[in-house]
Amino acid sequence: MAYTVTLIPGDGIGPEVTGATQQVLAAAGAPIEWEVVHAGQRAFEETGVPVPDAVLASIRKNRIGLKGPLGTPKGKGFRSANVTIRQELLLYTGLRPVRTLPGIDTPYQDVDLVVLRENTEDLYAGIEHEVLPGQVISLKVSTRAAGERIAKWAFEYMRYRGRRTITCCAKPALSPLADGAFVDAFGKIGADYPFIQQQLMDVDNLSMALALDPTRFDVLLLQNLYGDIISDLCAGLVGGLGVVPGANVGDRIAVFEAVHGTAPDIQGKGIANPLAVLSSAVMMLEFIGEHGIAQRIDQAIWGVLEEGKHLTGDLGGSEGTAGFTQALIDKLPRAKRGAR
Ligand code: NAI
Repeated sequence: MAYTVTLIPGDGIGPEVTGATQQVLAAAGAPIEWEVVHAGQRAFEETGVPVPDAVLASIRKNRIGLKGPLGTPKGKGFRSANVTIRQELLLYTGLRPVRTLPGIDTPYQDVDLVVLRENTEDLYAGIEHEVLPGQVISLKVSTRAAGERIAKWAFEYMRYRGRRTITCCAKPALSPLADGAFVDAFGKIGADYPFIQQQLMDVDNLSMALALDPTRFDVLLLQNLYGDIISDLCAGLVGGLGVVPGANVGDRIAVFEAVHGTAPDIQGKGIANPLAVLSSAVMMLEFIGEHGIAQRIDQAIWGVLEEGKHLTGDLGGSEGTAGFTQALIDKLPRAKRGAR
């Protein structure tokens, strides 16, 4: 059976890294038919809107999407295309696994943590108002329902994945109502999961603790803005934005994407690292149950990184996107007969 997956190639380096990902998946025999639609800057230039209805309709139909990074049109009144997709499709969990990879020189080894970010509220609600000239208020939205929804998702994810300790990070002393609601929701849902270790930590304290020793953390649960910042910080701990995958997940739909942006500084140079989008696609294959193919691609990634001969510039090598992609394809283990 072939799966139809919505593909948004994205802006900037997006088409380069999603194209490389398609090549590796095809070489691995992934049974995927891509339905290509455009969002972001390119869609805006073509249609006048950053997220055309056809994009949302395609993802709603297929339930699974793979997305390159999107630029947001400059100017007043445009909500980020990413935020629109997450909010319109109720992709309320931002899932970002962060693990040490072989052959990448970083200060820490054995990092293996997961950042879970509430994706629909917080300052991303985009409610800003100029009260008086030069005086602006920007509202942080936090509902108990959204807090409980992602806490439930987080605990179920941990149970399913065998993860042991969850750390919920906010700043309730500063914001007793907004952050307090999130922390309260965590405590309420957590009461049903006494077999999972649970702790609270202020997000500023978390930043320092991650810089000192990220290996002591397992799963981190955060609101939207804190989660955005901390997931980039965590990417930096294991080799940068070019290597960290991600997914936006709701109850019925999941859209997989890299953490990085459109990288305009290297667009079109053929040097972008496709690993983050490829690893997101590996997560997607796991999600749809294609474990064998996902593992083979993961082994190829591991092999190329360990060998260290074909690394892109961000990882300290001098290989381009095409050479790196070919090295991955060459390293794919053969499929066992009858297996996918
Ligand atoms: P960025 O992630 O695009 O770039 C930051 C730095 O990381 C740059 O030096 C870039 O060259 C490097 N980099 C990023 N991805 C790389 C890769 N795959 N291989 C090698 N190097 C890589 O962040 P920036 O510059 O803040 O944002 C640029 C644009 O991307 C903005 O318009 C922003 O709104 C958008 N953006 C989109 C995201 C998404 O669609 N999920 C996420 C973050 C930013």
